[in-house]
Amino acid sequence: MTLALTREVSPSFASCELTHLDREPIDVARAMLQHRRYEGCLVELGCDLLRLPAELACPDAVFVEDCAVVLDELAVITRPGAESRRGETESLARALRPFRPLGVVEAPSTLDGGDVLRVGRTLFVGLSSRTSPDGVAALERLVGPFGYRVVGVTLDGCLHLKSAVTLVAEGTLLVNPRWIDLGPFGGLERLEVDPAEPHAANALRIGDAVVFPAAWERTRRRLEQRGIEVCPVDVSEIAKAEGGVTCCSLVFDVTPAG
Ligand code: GLY
Repeated sequence: MTLALTREVSPSFASCELTHLDREPIDVARAMLQHRRYEGCLVELGCDLLRLPAELACPDAVFVEDCAVVLDELAVITRPGAESRRGETESLARALRPFRPLGVVEAPSTLDGGDVLRVGRTLFVGLSSRTSPDGVAALERLVGPFGYRVVGVTLDGCLHLKSAVTLVAEGTLLVNPRWIDLGPFGGLERLEVDPAEPHAANALRIGDAVVFPAAWERTRRRLEQRGIEVCPVDVSEIAKAEGGVTCCSLVFDVTPAG
């Protein structure tokens, strides 16, 4: 079965970290509602939900993706680049322990899970303001023994690697080519976001469908023209906190008990 691990939106959500966006008022109650609907979409796509309680002291804790990289063989607990986010990892590690052996990125290295894109046995890792070269090396040491290749990618103008590129079908990337160096992605097919929608490269693939922000209608048409099923979700309040649809869950396979 496929598990989607999520965490409730914190009442302190409006005090989130912002790097490339200006702060605008966030309607936290609306963000909570949008998050519930997002979770509903994951369930409709066949996921079982494991929802963690909100972390009052951690405004960004809803963005669980940044605190772990979950692979079939292990889960790597990251050390987030933003100091305000380091308190998120402990409860996440506790939640993941029943499902995977854990590896840990140690200080002073930093790594945000939003910077890690898995394509088969390759992990592309964004060298963002949150992920240090040491963090990339630490990840490589943890996953290398399991046969994963780790490839650093330079990016500019966005928070995380997955702000600029995600996998939307077998061998097909959705990309904003203005924010990343696409050289390392070699032979993979690329579908570009509509130029009027620079933030539209973040899509969450579940099975043959993608969960995708409803706001990006032009890019959605491009996905559908490629034959990709799109499940639109309104995440407008979550986007104001510089979070995308991949950030709000960790989706992984588990073996049912018994
Ligand atoms: N607000 C999302 C982040 O900066 O981590």
